[in-house]
Amino acid sequence: MSAAETSGRQLPRHIAIIMDGNGRWAKQRGLPRTAGHQEGVKRTREIIEECGRLGVEILTLYVFSTENWRRPPEEVSFLMGLLEDSLMDEVERMHQRGARVRFLGLREGLSPQLAAKMRAAEEKTAGNTGLNVNLAINYGGRVELVEALRRAVEEHGEDLKAGFDESLLEKYLFTAGQPDPDLVIRTSGEQRISNFLLWQIAYAELYFTPVLWPDFDRTELAKAIAEYQRRRRRFGGVESVASERAESKENI
Ligand code: IPE
Ligand code: IPE
Ligand code: MG
Repeated sequence: MSAAETSGRQLPRHIAIIMDGNGRWAKQRGLPRTAGHQEGVKRTREIIEECGRLGVEILTLYVFSTENWRRPPEEVSFLMGLLEDSLMDEVERMHQRGARVRFLGLREGLSPQLAAKMRAAEEKTAGNTGLNVNLAINYGGRVELVEALRRAVEEHGEDLKAGFDESLLEKYLFTAGQPDPDLVIRTSGEQRISNFLLWQIAYAELYFTPVLWPDFDRTELAKAIAEYQRRRRRFGGVESVASERAESKENI
C-alpha cells in the first residue's frame, strides 16, 4: 500500500494480529510444521516493517498463547528455541527503524535465557519513538485479567471496594497506558479469538482471512486495512465513518 493510497483515510492506530496457520502452510507443502514457523518469522518481520512505514502507532502480535503449552513437547521446544535464536536479530532490525518493543504475558514459565533477552530487548528499545511493537508471549486474556485483579487487590486492599472501575483495572493490564486495538486480524480461516486481548478488543473491528500466516504479506495487510477503512464504527452510538470519528476525537 502506498502512502498515497492511505492518505485522507484513517489508519488504525493499533493493529493486533493472531498469526495463525503456520502448521497448515507446511503440511500443504509436505514439510514439517517447524518449516511453517520458520517461514512465519519472515512474514512477521515484513508486517512489522510495513506497519512502521505506514505510520501505525501500535502493532500487537500473538506469538505464543498460554494454551500453546498443550502442543507436543518437541513443537513447544522448537518454538521456544526459534524465539530465543531469532529475537535479538529481529529486535536489532526493529531498533534500526526506531521501533519500541514490549512483551505482553507471563514471564514465569519461560526459560531464564529467553526472559533475559526479552528484558534486554525492552531496555534497548525503551527510548524509541517509532512503531510500538507488543509481542504476546505466554499470553492469555484470562490470565491477564486474573493477574490484573490480583495485583489491584494486593496494592489497594480494602480500599479497592470504593474505587474499583474500568480505568483502575486497565492500569494493571499488560497493555497499560496503550489505546485499545482498532483492528484485529486473524489469518488461516479460523473465526475465533483464542484468548487474545479479551478486555481490549471490546470495540475492535474484526477481520478474518483464509490466508495462512506464512502467506500474509504487505499486500494482504493492505487489504485488511482497506476493509477496516470501509467499516462504520458506532461504539454503541450513531453511525459515523471510522475516519470521521477518529478525527472528531482528536478535536475534543
Ligand atoms: C500459528 O500457527 C503459530 C502458533 C500458534 C505458535 P499454528 O502452529 O497454530 O498453525 P496451524 O493452526 O496448526 O496451521
Ligand atoms: C492462536 O492460535 C495463538 C497464536 C497465534 C499464538 P492457535 O492455533 O493456538 O489457536 P487455536 O488453538 O486454533 O484456537
Ligand atoms: Mg493454529
